[in-house]
Amino acid sequence: MAVPTLAVSGLRVAIRGDEGVARILDHIALRLEAGRILGVVGESGCGKSTLIRAILGILPPAAEVAAGEILFEGEDLLAFSEAELNRNVRGSRISFIPQDPYLALNPLFTIGAQLLETMRWHAPGDRRGHRARLLELFRRVQLPDPEAALDRHPHQFSGGQRQRLLIAAALACAPRLVIADEPTTALDVTTQQQILRLLRELVDDLGIAMLFVTHDLGVVAELCDDVSVIYAGQTVESGPTAALLDRPLHPYTRALLACHPERSSGFVGIPGAVPSPLRAPPGCRFAPRCTSAHPACTTRAPAPQRPEPGRSVDCILHEVAA
Ligand SMILES: Nc1ncnc2c1ncn2[C@@H]1O[C@H](COP(=O)(O)OP(=O)(O)OP(=O)(O)O)[C@@H](O)[C@H]1O
Ligand SMILES: [Mg+2]
Repeated sequence: MAVPTLAVSGLRVAIRGDEGVARILDHIALRLEAGRILGVVGESGCGKSTLIRAILGILPPAAEVAAGEILFEGEDLLAFSEAELNRNVRGSRISFIPQDPYLALNPLFTIGAQLLETMRWHAPGDRRGHRARLLELFRRVQLPDPEAALDRHPHQFSGGQRQRLLIAAALACAPRLVIADEPTTALDVTTQQQILRLLRELVDDLGIAMLFVTHDLGVVAELCDDVSVIYAGQTVESGPTAALLDRPLHPYTRALLACHPERSSGFVGIPGAVPSPLRAPPGCRFAPRCTSAHPACTTRAPAPQRPEPGRSVDCILHEVAA
């Protein structure tokens, strides 16, 4: 089997606070291959951004990876020094598309000045070559008037155009993996559709791998080849998108799907809230909100099950069925 672009297993991130140490991520497992888009989905506070920060090696100072492995093209990212990550990984082989394109751009400098400076750091070649590549990417992401864009400041673009700029910037150093943190939530529906279509085309044409974080299962259905559902810092279910959405196995995935406006008569949420990692319940973290919970669910953690090829689920109900 080919080496996956990203393989995360048994990932645990612990954070120290006044009330002790909490596992904000635990038992996280992901596998992503070149040319594919993996959606990571879960409610607010489930740990999606923390997962991205762990992969990029930019966790906050109180947090650390306490267990597990993050392999990027077969190499152990956790063994890289800060200098190696800066020089050879972040912003070059792995790039990032943020949620809010405005915050990611410096309002004081022109687009050309800031993007060319990044390329000077990470991409081989000279300024003329970088400029030509940037213009080519601006055309690729269908940014109007690419030449003029270089001399404009961020506030002179619409939200959708700024997101196109950041997608071009993320591609500038020819990454193997692009990580996107809810890149379309700030955009209107039409612009969101255009950006999703563009991302899909880029992944297909360039053969890169994309990790796409979202709370929106509708976006996952449209864009992603595979999905990992996370709840309270843990992977609860993963598999190919079509099978997972058609026949969800974990009660949390079913509850998320039931909330989706296209599938229900109104905007209903899942009763209760994601627990704080400091007060994570024993056993299955979803058990207090689960309408199918057994008594055993509150006392012991489920063992991962593989009910079908390519699918996995962490739920005691599937252990009983197995
Ligand atoms: N620096 C920190 N200190 C303490 N707790 C933190 C810190 N960063 C994150 N957490 C906690 O870790 C959990 C996961 O947070 P995270 O930001 O990763 O969630 P998320 O899934 O990205 O949410 P959202 O959809 O709202 O962006 C939350 O309970 C959060 O309170
Ligand atoms: Mg987040």
